[in-house]
Amino acid sequence: MAKERFEKPTGTQDVLPGAVEKWHVVEAKARDLCRRFNYREIRTPMFEHTELFERGVGETTDIVEGEMYTFKDKGDRDLALRPEGTAGVVRAYVQNKLYGEPDVSKLYYIGPMFRYERPQAGRYRQFHQFGIEAFGAVDPAIDAEVISLGYQFYKDLGLKEVRVELNSVGNAPSRAAYREKLLAFLRPMHDTLCKDCQRRMERNPLRVLDCKVDQDKFGDAPSILDSLDEECSMHFAKVKSHLDAMGVEYSINPRLVRGLDYYTHTAFEYKAAGIGTIDTVGGGGRYNGLVEEIGGPDQPGIGFGIGLERILLILENQGVELETVKPLDVYLVALGEAADLEITKQLFILRSQGISAERDYLGRKMKAQMKSADRLSARYTAILGEDELLDGVITVKTMATGEQRTIKLEELAQALAE
Ligand code: HAM
Repeated sequence: MAKERFEKPTGTQDVLPGAVEKWHVVEAKARDLCRRFNYREIRTPMFEHTELFERGVGETTDIVEGEMYTFKDKGDRDLALRPEGTAGVVRAYVQNKLYGEPDVSKLYYIGPMFRYERPQAGRYRQFHQFGIEAFGAVDPAIDAEVISLGYQFYKDLGLKEVRVELNSVGNAPSRAAYREKLLAFLRPMHDTLCKDCQRRMERNPLRVLDCKVDQDKFGDAPSILDSLDEECSMHFAKVKSHLDAMGVEYSINPRLVRGLDYYTHTAFEYKAAGIGTIDTVGGGGRYNGLVEEIGGPDQPGIGFGIGLERILLILENQGVELETVKPLDVYLVALGEAADLEITKQLFILRSQGISAERDYLGRKMKAQMKSADRLSARYTAILGEDELLDGVITVKTMATGEQRTIKLEELAQALAE
């Protein structure tokens, strides 16, 4: 009797050949973009001490309250699969004393993140982020640079209609002042709000504005922009000037509050239509207190995270074609046993010289092998028969034109490279 089959865990995805090439293109574009903007890659562990996220992301966030994959290892340590990239990068920045470097630390990462969320199109339990973080500068020009890098990423990919929404969540005193004003607005409607909002009102009232259920009730809510102090307003104004200087389009959304607790000043999101009810494809902001919170010196930071699954979904919905097809250079066909061995040798030589090459391993007839070469979009097929082997030559066929020529075996690699 057949054994029971396994299925992938809910909310995860297999990326198969045929789809993975799109990932390669998207990742290559991200890397090239970071090269141009002078951001360098950092790779941090996929799990960290749970407490890092509790302190970094914030105790009252949805992530820490209910979405983390936590576990104890055999040494009884409390660990968590990373739900996002920033906390780990900040930890690495502090632990490796990158703040000792004379220049601004500009870092990027691409990798899986894990959140126990209810899966739907564009929302998974394992998903991938392309993220950047810049440490050590309070200059609003870098806020604008970070926003513009994400903006350019969408442009480079050929995505249409991605909007940048911008807000300032101020510094701690501005936020405290706003919190009071907001609570004064929310308290009278307490009983009419959903359970989530009622709970958030006590713990994290700014997050109430983010509620999908009660959105419509907050039209008259006070704007955080009216509570910003002089320093915060100045910073915000300058971020906008730098964005204007680059021609990066954005709209101000004073109700934009991000789902993580570490933000100060600039907060932004990239929005696009096309994945059901989800419209956020990326988001980020400044986090001036986080490095200190995680045991480092008082160094400012700013960054974003962009969900790559969402990018790929929107690319598909918008019918954007990525250049993914990499045809095979050559398919080698052997006729007879002696030729078969020579083909093995030639295959290895070609591959070692950078040429992509394939052969048959299923004992198929020549016709079936030629079909296989077609399926692989091989540019050439090279056919070796017994007679040719004796003469030390091989027949090379250009698939596009059908043209055939005979080439010395030892010149095959060079001829194909040309
Ligand atoms: P975030 O808004 O939590 O921010 O996530 C950033 C992006 O990751 C989202 O906009 C979305 O595209 C993607 N994402 C989040 N959760 C899921 C999910 N369950 N399935 C698929 N995609 C998802 C952060 O993570 C911050 N660390 C960003 C940041 C960096 N802020 C400053 N620096």
